[in-house]
Amino acid sequence: MENKKKLTLVIDPDPILHQIANPVKNITPELDDIFNQMADIMGRFDGIGLAGPQVGLSQRIVIIDAGTIATEDKLPPPPEKYMKIINPEIIEMSKETCVREEGCLSLPTIYYNVERPCSIRIKYLNEKGEEIHLDATGLLARCIEHEIDHLNGKVFIDYVSPFKKRLAMSKLKKMKPTK
Ligand code: NI
Repeated sequence: MENKKKLTLVIDPDPILHQIANPVKNITPELDDIFNQMADIMGRFDGIGLAGPQVGLSQRIVIIDAGTIATEDKLPPPPEKYMKIINPEIIEMSKETCVREEGCLSLPTIYYNVERPCSIRIKYLNEKGEEIHLDATGLLARCIEHEIDHLNGKVFIDYVSPFKKRLAMSKLKKMKPTK
């Protein structure tokens, strides 16, 4: 993956947010730089997760602020603050669903309740290329589901009623990039 450019946050409506992102074929040192830039952007905008398309990269990569999420979920801190996720796949999801309000850095000022499976099992490659299997629940599961949606060209307002979605889109079209 070639990248030396400075990444910036992509705001909806933008076509890259509605495309299926490409799998990562090779884990190269450039990916470290990309994840570092993504962590920086996520921190600056107070996010807990960020996907490749949200920084203009049509690549199946996600960064999750697992440290902040563990605090929210009242769990002990994870060994590493950031989860760096490459080519994730959902292997299983619970039939049981949970509803919680969501937002998205690419859809500033928009917040709606979204119903999602309460827990999931995923597999992915970490930044070292190791295959990881993970069971997630609570906010961690929700965040991972939201980010994997981004890799599949889906944003969270795709789940709300057409009326609420139109309302959100008209709000977003008047918005300008902030930072
Ligand atoms: Ni999002």
